[in-house]
Amino acid sequence: MSDLKSKTVTASAPAKVILFGEHFVVYGQPAIVLAIDKRASATAQMRKDTRISIDSGDLGVAGIFKGERYQAKKGGIKGRVKLEPVRSVILQVLERAEKKKGIDVHIQSDIPVSAGLGSSAAVATSTVLAVSTLLGMELPKPEIFRIAYESERLVHGTPSGIDPAISTYGGALQFQRDKDFVNLNIEANIPLVVGNTEVQRSTGELVARVRQMNDKFPSIMRLMVVTSARIASEGVEALRTGNLQTVGTLMNINHALLCAIDVSHESLERLVHTARKSGAYGAKLTGGGGGGCMIALAEEKKLGKVMAAIQKAGGTAFQARKTDEGLRLER
Ligand code: PMV
Repeated sequence: MSDLKSKTVTASAPAKVILFGEHFVVYGQPAIVLAIDKRASATAQMRKDTRISIDSGDLGVAGIFKGERYQAKKGGIKGRVKLEPVRSVILQVLERAEKKKGIDVHIQSDIPVSAGLGSSAAVATSTVLAVSTLLGMELPKPEIFRIAYESERLVHGTPSGIDPAISTYGGALQFQRDKDFVNLNIEANIPLVVGNTEVQRSTGELVARVRQMNDKFPSIMRLMVVTSARIASEGVEALRTGNLQTVGTLMNINHALLCAIDVSHESLERLVHTARKSGAYGAKLTGGGGGGCMIALAEEKKLGKVMAAIQKAGGTAFQARKTDEGLRLER
């Protein structure tokens, strides 16, 4: 018994970037999403009482939930909202286990937060795996996805499910509303630089802005939606054959379409253009836009130069590659 009390389980899950199709996915077209080699991890341990304690180094927030009561340890009372999604997945796992136990969860992450890189989903899925394993359960991946998705729904309203799916399964996924996501089994190495403008934005507001555009110019929007679908399907073809130059050109076209629906931002334009000028095959905003992150695809040997150019233009940047490793237990 004392053994179980001191036992810890750690699980980790990857971040993501959207390669093609953001925003247009809301109108039923495919989005192509890649898991990248930045990860978040959750370490779970039993408590002697029935409280839930969560500590997130990256958010600078820690606290203890006793029923509905919250006691802040770090980050003040306002930190509670940041920890609610993690608490929600822990409660869902405890409910499935039919156990009334106290759990400590410690979160660590390499993934920039609030940047559209899927950090909260990576935290949610790794927490589900760590806590369920600690409780002796073997939850299948679709079940882990569902729990993380449910917690996202509580927090964000109507999320598309892209983030919990990619953090659970890894690799490259094609995602389309009301359809099962498809694992694309892309073998090519996809060398990327991710540039973060550090400009805060709300994905919900940008989705609403696009909705207004759609209401005002429905027939133009329809053509752009169809174009986005074509870009995604030609993009998948180019990824399958490993033709990165074509992938890059299609990223540029996709970015132009995202500018047309007014979700780019001057900070993104700066980074996208500097990346192209420094030799990238292509560059585009990724995710909601309006700030947040962009991605550049480049030959392996040019990655350093592209990254330096993005940094010089005012962004924070890191190199990333597709990873096929989704959610996993750490030994
Ligand atoms: O900013 P992110 O990574 O959460 O991406 C949002 C993607 C959108 O297509 C803009 C919205 C959605 O729910 O799919």
